[in-house]
Amino acid sequence: MENRQYQLGMIGLGTMGRNLLLNLADHGYHVLGFDQDPTKVQLLNNSSSAAGSVKGVGDVQEMIRLLETPRKIMMLVPAGKPVDAVTDELLPLLAPGDILIDGGNSFYCDTQRRIEKCAAQQIHFMGIGISGGEKGARYGPSIMPGGDEAAYEALKPMLEAVAAKVNGSPCVAYLGKGAAGHFVKMVHNGIEYAIMQMISETYWIFRDALKLQPEALHEIYHRWNQGPMQSFLLEITAKIFQQKDSFSDHWLIDMIDDHAEAKGTGKWTSQQAMDLHVPVNVIDTAVAMRDLSGFAEERKRAAGLYHPDRRRLSDSSLVAEHLHDALYFGTIVCYAQGLAMLHRGSHELDMQIPLYEVVRIWRGGCIIRSALLDRFYTIYQQDPELPNLLLHPEIADLLMKLEHNTRQILSIALLGGYTLPGLVSALSYFDAYRSERLPANLIQAQRDFFGAHTYRRIDREGIFHTEWEDANT
Ligand code: 6PG
Repeated sequence: MENRQYQLGMIGLGTMGRNLLLNLADHGYHVLGFDQDPTKVQLLNNSSSAAGSVKGVGDVQEMIRLLETPRKIMMLVPAGKPVDAVTDELLPLLAPGDILIDGGNSFYCDTQRRIEKCAAQQIHFMGIGISGGEKGARYGPSIMPGGDEAAYEALKPMLEAVAAKVNGSPCVAYLGKGAAGHFVKMVHNGIEYAIMQMISETYWIFRDALKLQPEALHEIYHRWNQGPMQSFLLEITAKIFQQKDSFSDHWLIDMIDDHAEAKGTGKWTSQQAMDLHVPVNVIDTAVAMRDLSGFAEERKRAAGLYHPDRRRLSDSSLVAEHLHDALYFGTIVCYAQGLAMLHRGSHELDMQIPLYEVVRIWRGGCIIRSALLDRFYTIYQQDPELPNLLLHPEIADLLMKLEHNTRQILSIALLGGYTLPGLVSALSYFDAYRSERLPANLIQAQRDFFGAHTYRRIDREGIFHTEWEDANT
């Protein structure tokens, strides 16, 4: 090809970077890739596409030379220092108007800092969340871009071409100013952690309390995935229970160590939610439970000390029906929490995030895609400024239908000594959120008692303080 004929350059040819380039090429684009590892460059050069073309280059300057201007360069490198290092290397080579994209799971505050740094040289830095794992990148991810709107318009045809499609509509949209794309992706991952935690809690009741075998679990989750909760995470859960171990005669799931690892996006969601004063306790619990899963030695000691005697549950079909409803209930609540956080963040951080677009593009390609998002999409289309899904009558009806079975199974499981902190958090949040009056008046009184922190009254304006000890003597 001639000089300056390539439409996008990728820095970082791990599986995600390579697959996204191949996806672009399949849609007729001519794309370049660079990686420090020459074998990855070679691997890309060995690939071909009938529609467009892919080319691996040996250095970044060659990429700069071969790209159409204004240039579009995407980084898919690990979050943190590598993004700064690549940005610093590229900046002197770029020209005003060029677009530098971070397609990784970067912390949105870092993205904001990079946007400002690049803007000083009239370079558009865009934080774009990409979800869907390796397959998503290759055949259609959900793409969450934020930043300069004109830069988004320049990228839009490419992003729409490679994104997953739902009813013909691409799972990509402009999601707001500044670091909105990475903010939305962070919350997506927080919801992902919460749903995964709650699914694992239901699994453990089946496995530990009912002693069901993985074949039976496959059937249950497969059936659930045919219903209103249909989702990618349920689909893969059902498939996981079909996998035999290649080293032993066991099912693979039984042979996997129970320490859940994390790269930090769930933790950031919780930390940022606290900074924004938005409760997302199902996500907090999911993060905490991944951490607790890492305390294997202590858990073993504690098990020896407390020798938990868990009551075996019976009537598996009734338990399954109730657990289905509890998971359905918890899933709605955790989406509501994540979306409430986006609503608050959009205003507090001045990102102008269109929630109906967020739920629209989460319907396909991403890890938290689910049939539920179709319902949420209709709701946010009608009321784009809805502060919390729990305030919508349709959601209220649904939660009230699921509530009885949820309470039923959670009570039985708690009495039996089982752990379901994610699902319990969802129910506790629901109970608190729908309470016109909470016991926080006592907290205010205590604060005022020991620290003269003052309180407000329900019957008159102003700030009050009481000399509590004196009042009682
Ligand atoms: C996605 C995922 C992905 C994330 C993994 C692992 O949307 O495709 O969120 O971005 O890296 O889910 O995350 P943890 O290692 O933190 O579990």
